Amino acid sequence: MKIGNLNINGFLFSAPLAGISDSIFRRVCRRYGASATFSEMVSVAGLGHSDNKTMKYIKFGEEERPIGIQLFGSDPELVLKGLETALRVQPDFIDFNLGCPVKKVVKQGAGGALLRQPQLATRIMAVLVKNSPIPVTAKLRSGWDSDSIIFPELSRRLQDVGVAAIVIHPRTVIQGFSSRPDRKLVGDTVRFLSIPLIYSGDIWSAEDARKSLDETGASGLMIGRAAMGDPHIFRRIKSYLQDGNLLAEPSPLQKLDMMLDYFHLTIDFYGALKGIKIMRKFIVWYTRGLSGNSQLRQEVFHLDNYDSILSKLSAYRENFTNQKMAKTL
Ligand SMILES: Cc1cc2nc3c(=O)[nH]c(=O)nc-3n(C[C@H](O)[C@H](O)[C@H](O)COP(=O)(O)O)c2cc1C
Repeated sequence: MKIGNLNINGFLFSAPLAGISDSIFRRVCRRYGASATFSEMVSVAGLGHSDNKTMKYIKFGEEERPIGIQLFGSDPELVLKGLETALRVQPDFIDFNLGCPVKKVVKQGAGGALLRQPQLATRIMAVLVKNSPIPVTAKLRSGWDSDSIIFPELSRRLQDVGVAAIVIHPRTVIQGFSSRPDRKLVGDTVRFLSIPLIYSGDIWSAEDARKSLDETGASGLMIGRAAMGDPHIFRRIKSYLQDGNLLAEPSPLQKLDMMLDYFHLTIDFYGALKGIKIMRKFIVWYTRGLSGNSQLRQEVFHLDNYDSILSKLSAYRENFTNQKMAKTL
């Protein structure tokens, strides 16, 4: 698909996930078949000061391309400064957050709060489009609450100011993650937009992906929570959508090998101290549904030494090779 003048080889996107979709996550999603990636949301205020912590959020490797850096904020001047800093690392497109329900963000008038201020949201997007040499996209929820569904009208306005594509997670800010995403609303909106629309929400399997495309008519799909601990979902979706071939989910042993790869990449990138902390949540996700996972957590989570964690993870993996052998005998 195309986003403005950017050609993307495919239409599966890894989602922006605060605290999760870092460089490693994006790299791994790309390896398993994501067509493009999004950074987690980055504060324009932090970028304006070029503070070290914020600058780390926008670092990426070539393997993660095509990549969009997602910005959030509410002051057009700060947004412009943030844009200038983000452009220095040469991403492929810029995305802006118009949907985050997190209190800390909403309190600043940013993220989902901007859905209550459509004029300001449109002005910010116009500033981005005017000053960005690369395509600009926006990621929306459907509205602040069920009485103020603004996504269709706001999308039209954003298209008019030159936004190149819209990502929609069709729940309201107030809904958080409760109830179902409103795919019909997306289908109704796709019909009158000429820019591509990327659908995000509750895609947990290849069949969900098929259904989401059929029900919305979207040009692209975005995968978030399902890829946490299961990046292989991109491969399954791709295969199913391309030729109807439903691949099996990875076996426990394959999952643990994927986890060990993730562990090594994370430690290489962040160093042991930070890498071990980050890895804890991924250990939970990669071992979801596997027998003995809670004991593994108990054994590993109090350790802060690379070698001892690696030896516990390897021993846990070994149980599954034995199980596999027992099955084949
Ligand atoms: C832990 C977490 C962090 C998220 N962070 C962001 C973010 O930084 N920016 C954003 O636009 N959406 C964010 N989202 C929303 C996702 O990008 C996505 O739209 C939503 O989770 C629905 O898709 P899913 O059902 O595939 O997870 C986040 C969601 C979760 C669960």
